[in-house]
Amino acid sequence: MKYTTVLFDLDGTLTRSEQGITRSAQYAAEKMGFTGYTLEQFKAFIGPPLFASFKNVCGMTDEQADQAVTFYRERFSTIGWAENEVYTGIPTLLRSLKRSGAKIAMATAKPQVFAERIAKKFGFAPYLDALVGPDFAVKHESKADIVKKAAELLGGVPVMVGDRCYDIDGGRANGIDTIGVCYGYGTREELEAAGATYIVQTVEELTDLLLGGAPRARGVFLSMEGMDGCGKTTQRNALVAHLNQLGWDVQLTREPGGDAIAEKIRELVLDPANKEMFDETEAYLYAAARAQNVRALIRPALAAGKAVVCDRFVDSSIAYQGGGRQLGSEGIAALNRLAVGDTLPDVTVYLRMPPEKALSRRLSASEPDRLEREKIDFFERTYRTYEALFGGEDMARVAAVDASQPIEDVTRDMLAAVDERLNTASV
Ligand code: TYD
Repeated sequence: MKYTTVLFDLDGTLTRSEQGITRSAQYAAEKMGFTGYTLEQFKAFIGPPLFASFKNVCGMTDEQADQAVTFYRERFSTIGWAENEVYTGIPTLLRSLKRSGAKIAMATAKPQVFAERIAKKFGFAPYLDALVGPDFAVKHESKADIVKKAAELLGGVPVMVGDRCYDIDGGRANGIDTIGVCYGYGTREELEAAGATYIVQTVEELTDLLLGGAPRARGVFLSMEGMDGCGKTTQRNALVAHLNQLGWDVQLTREPGGDAIAEKIRELVLDPANKEMFDETEAYLYAAARAQNVRALIRPALAAGKAVVCDRFVDSSIAYQGGGRQLGSEGIAALNRLAVGDTLPDVTVYLRMPPEKALSRRLSASEPDRLEREKIDFFERTYRTYEALFGGEDMARVAAVDASQPIEDVTRDMLAAVDERLNTASV
């Protein structure tokens, strides 16, 4: 790798932050009596210091601009800072750089306190060796000052990565090479005119340039578990949306299923007409579908740096076939070893819901008949096996969430637990 220290601008380079910034700028301008501007016009605020933007875009005086910055922060500090989205591919880039031994800094014109909050919420924090933003107390610090501080802190052979001429100027003022990215808020012309050492079009290209042949980090593997009727599908969609917001390219899959062959096994194993199927046959079929899914879909996606979300995995077989069908957890775990090898989830979301509650959505309200009684016993054994499995001390990957709560609360708890695990599993 040519550069051993990478300094990243934040807005327009790591995050698509226009909503939070333009809305907060509009709010401040309107409070100052500068009305009639569109959100589009406030896009010019992304990148340069706010003070300068209020003067340039709205024609404010120094005093007015100072006051406007205060109003801006009023909205930004409460709502605006979280109106953000990480560019797809950034988590893989940061993980790969870190694995290759590079030092990483965020060098941003955003006040340090907000930059820190964003770094934490959007998953950058574990990768950062330094985070430099202007101090609230020091007025109108330039990008060159910030780049200087970050470069001095980390040493090595630094490069500054940014989407606006301010980033390129900031790097050049310190004699540092620069990479201009065109996917943010600046144009290629702007970056060229500023004299960027390199210009890239996409995060993909940026990754190739920075890694210079060093290997890419593997993606992350998340599985979801829980009883039938626990609300898994709804929460799965929320999880995928969240991972997308964090910049992950998500590969969604379900078990039994995956590619065309695994889907055929799914039809076979879930077909209610197959009443003559023995429990052992069923266990092997789930494992067979899994062997196919792991090789056809999951491993290639992880190798490409994606986040794989798998709806059910080996744990389902342990709970349903091992516990529910009473084939034994050990035997089922052993039977699945050849199917999955070392492809195991980094994070498992367990939506905890006792069977009475999960089943009440499926069974009649009256006294259960014989078949229903059998079903209830089956689900109780399955639930107990899940609980025993996930109760172990070696289960740090498991994010167990109380799924009997209202949907939004389940989502909130799940995402917080997933973030916590991703932040430790990732570096
Ligand atoms: P799924 O499609 O996840 O259904 P749901 O959305 O209702 O959870 O799973 C289908 C069924 O397959 C479900 O009842 C659980 C069962 N199953 C097993 O018994 N063993 C396994 O290994 C897997 C993956 C699923």
